[in-house]
Amino acid sequence: MCSSHADTASVVAEIVARHPAGRSSLIPVLQEIQERLGFLSAEALREIQQRTGISASEAYGVATFYTQFRFTPPGKHTIQVCNGTACHVRESHRIADELSRTLGVNVGETTADGNFSLERVACLGCCALSPVVAVDGKVFAGVTSKKLPAILGEYQGEGIPETL
Ligand code: FES
Repeated sequence: MCSSHADTASVVAEIVARHPAGRSSLIPVLQEIQERLGFLSAEALREIQQRTGISASEAYGVATFYTQFRFTPPGKHTIQVCNGTACHVRESHRIADELSRTLGVNVGETTADGNFSLERVACLGCCALSPVVAVDGKVFAGVTSKKLPAILGEYQGEGIPETL
């Protein structure tokens, strides 16, 4: 998905060229750019402006309206905390808060060491297992604060002992 070697200008040019001109194409263009480059950089937004006439600030404003878009490079591992109804009523927001504190980032950000990105997402489709957290697509069920060190440990390679 994310190619650090991709040339932002050429990727944006190629994607914009495949869509009809006009504002109605902005969201699909932004989605494809994020798929290819991993996030929407300031450079990508400037390229959109050059090629579509839609200002970078307008494109940014539209993108910030949707939680799917990110503006910083993704971390090595992506942690998704489900914000769907079933998980929400089982207090998944507390899990997100705890992760935010532990990792020292807000939702939508990447840790300073680049290891983790933290996201809140809509229903992950396994409500019976709520509250659910997924790391790089692997689902962890019935997550509690106590389980977080073990889950993070799997991706930090530090052998944090199982605390369950
Ligand atoms: S609400 Fe969280 S998996 Fe459905």
